[in-house]
Amino acid sequence: MEHILKPTAAAQTDLPRLWEARRLPEDPAALADERYHDIVAETYDDWEGTPWMAHAEAWIVPWMVGHVRGGIAVDLGTGTGRIAQALAETGSVEVIAVDRSRRMLQAALTKTKGLPVLALRADAAELPILDATVDAVTCSGVLHHMEDPRRAINEVARVLRPGGLFVIREPNADYPAEWFAPLERMAKTAHRRRLASPTTEKCEVSAPSEHPVSPALLRDWLSTMFVPESIGSAKLLASLSLPVGTRGEHLYYRLANLADRACVLRLLRGRGSLVLVVARRTERMLTHRATGRRA
Ligand SMILES: C[S@@+](CC[C@H](N)C(=O)[O-])C[C@H]1O[C@@H](n2cnc3c(N)ncnc32)[C@H](O)[C@@H]1O
Repeated sequence: MEHILKPTAAAQTDLPRLWEARRLPEDPAALADERYHDIVAETYDDWEGTPWMAHAEAWIVPWMVGHVRGGIAVDLGTGTGRIAQALAETGSVEVIAVDRSRRMLQAALTKTKGLPVLALRADAAELPILDATVDAVTCSGVLHHMEDPRRAINEVARVLRPGGLFVIREPNADYPAEWFAPLERMAKTAHRRRLASPTTEKCEVSAPSEHPVSPALLRDWLSTMFVPESIGSAKLLASLSLPVGTRGEHLYYRLANLADRACVLRLLRGRGSLVLVVARRTERMLTHRATGRRA
């Protein structure tokens, strides 16, 4: 896979399979986000492994990976590499796992030992990858960390071959979090009473600013370079955040997932807590000009 990297990326000798861009954009927001993810890298998988994540998202990674049919895939903002791992385990995909956070990449490399995964420390807005060399890009929970996600979308369009696939999972700006807030407060209070001790927060470091996007805004941003195959949302009932250890939580998430997949998504179109997009790179630029701005 090294053959599709630009000379602006250099191999690191301390960690085999790790390459680094010689230059990363140094805007304060990107640096703050990188520091935050370096700090949380060690505990990130514990958090991901809570019932909330494991059950409420059980089907989403397989859903994303299921669209990728082989070749070289870039997993943008790979974090600890859960999607890179699932892609490589299909046996038909080689993966370049990109992230700004070196600690996240170290975790991803540990997780993907023995698999065809190369880690690349780079910014999503300046990928040291040659034009039109990649068959698919997956991007889960990354764009909302960026001040201007359109720079990453332009880069994805540049590195993808015509017809290449772009699969996105992002927090949804249209998700009505307030619907669940009273229920979440009640569940937390009941849980505390039952345990007779306060629940401890797993992560005490506050995340830098995040900017969820709506399905409509993503559609607009993608419109000049991609043809969307599907733009929708997922995870409504399964977004109810129960305290870890709440009685019946596993059962709740299982049922909520089934309901979300079966019917709620159709009834409450676009209001799930995640935006899911599958889009294809066009042969050439389309004439429509994206105008959308964040709300
Ligand atoms: C919420 S985590 C998601 C990790 C993984 N994709 C997943 O779904 O489990 C976001 C990741 O994106 C990375 N990231 C954020 N902004 C980035 C940027 N501009 N360039 C590259 N990586 C970035 C962070 O370092 C972090 O590892």
